[in-house]
Amino acid sequence: MVDALPGTGVPAEQILEELRALRRADLPTHGGRLFAYVYDPALDGLDELAEAAHAISAHVNGLDPTAFPSLLAMENALVAAAARLLGGDDQAVGSVTSGGTESLILAVKAARDSRPELTTPRLVVPSTAHAAFAKAAHYLRVALDVVPVGAGLRADPSAMAAAITGDTVLVAGSAPSYAHGVVDPIPELAAVAAERGVRFHVDACFGGWVLPFLRRLGAELPPFDLSVPGVTSISVDLHKYAYAPKGVSILLHRTERLRLPQYFAYAGWPGYTMVNPIVSSTRSGGPIAAALATLRHIGDDGYLELARRTREAVTTLSAAVEKTDGVRLFAPPETTVVCITAENVFVLADELAARGWHTQPQMSFGDIPATIHLTVTASVDPTGFAADLAEAVAATATRGPAAPTVSLSLTPDMVTPDLVAGLAEGLGLGGGDFSRMAAVNELLDAAPPALREALLTGFLSLLQRPATTTE
Ligand SMILES: Cc1ncc(COP(=O)(O)O)c(C=O)c1O
Repeated sequence: MVDALPGTGVPAEQILEELRALRRADLPTHGGRLFAYVYDPALDGLDELAEAAHAISAHVNGLDPTAFPSLLAMENALVAAAARLLGGDDQAVGSVTSGGTESLILAVKAARDSRPELTTPRLVVPSTAHAAFAKAAHYLRVALDVVPVGAGLRADPSAMAAAITGDTVLVAGSAPSYAHGVVDPIPELAAVAAERGVRFHVDACFGGWVLPFLRRLGAELPPFDLSVPGVTSISVDLHKYAYAPKGVSILLHRTERLRLPQYFAYAGWPGYTMVNPIVSSTRSGGPIAAALATLRHIGDDGYLELARRTREAVTTLSAAVEKTDGVRLFAPPETTVVCITAENVFVLADELAARGWHTQPQMSFGDIPATIHLTVTASVDPTGFAADLAEAVAATATRGPAAPTVSLSLTPDMVTPDLVAGLAEGLGLGGGDFSRMAAVNELLDAAPPALREALLTGFLSLLQRPATTTE
């Protein structure tokens, strides 16, 4: 790796060339062949616009809106647009955060701090809720009550109701869930929370910017936003289906009173009084300006057209799965996710990747089998997918199950850095080639969740080592 602090500064063009060279190792962010992590609308000129907008505001600090009113104005514009799209009335308020995880952490914090009298505040979520809720609960020391989902992988309102106790500060549902793309019955869930006087959050981080347009296109989806009685907050990520560059999500509350405990204020030191609505204090205006430019450039009619294209791609991809022997849809493709299951699903994911379709393997969970996840965006051109899928299924049958190269009889406390390094070497991960992952995924899938967490933590820690410089 190059030296991040060379003795003498390096010319700009050389640095940009080095960055481009590094980026060549990445999966493709554009072109509609990567079905996780990235959201590409394939609109000419949009990247250039967002980059220019980012550059204009990159050095502005959101810490103090009186010093930088430009950022406050942009934030308020984004929040207003989100509230309008998501059923907020003139009482709705919100904040721009750095991403979905931060929005969820803050929704949980606001709920927790609205009940300071509780010693063990609790959060009730369906088992399909995003992992970020578990992170929020962990960071904030809120107890997490995970409720098994019912039919169709949807949260079960009566089971959720039964999990609510006097200590519950927040109940949540997904619109839609990330893993399967199904929308929870938000009106019923919000009603059971409201009946007990408990806040209800809709995690629309993933689909909040596309569901309203899908509904306008005729998709049969339940109401899911602030127009639903009992919904007290909702989150939507602009860096997902609003197609803004990374680093922007919005958390909306039904009223200012509900938002107030989200703030952190501290005057007990000799410096400036710190008042933060979000986790970070100093924050760049770059992502916020880029998001505003993206929204204004695409516009309402543009998002409708992007949703139409996305729907078309989902329909074509799903039809290909349905007509291919040996694979099936695991969840109804009612939003923007295609979720596939098959024999030897991890080998199949490798075979699809070898044909240029980069999907996301998902491990088995309870009675949910391992699946392949496709987040479909407007740039996806499904031409050739059916043929490649058929070929990949045939190749998977020929290869057979991924033979585990190591067998694990470990407990999480036995996982040391040396053990992980040895395992990674044995699994062929030492050289940084992650293109054939079936054996690794098979191993991780067989590991109990706590062991999988320990192994992957160890592996990430192994990767995150100070670089040895080449010059
Ligand atoms: C439903 C849902 N909630 C929350 C998140 C977390 O978002 P982020 O990765 O931006 O923190 C995601 C991310 O995929 C999501 O799909």
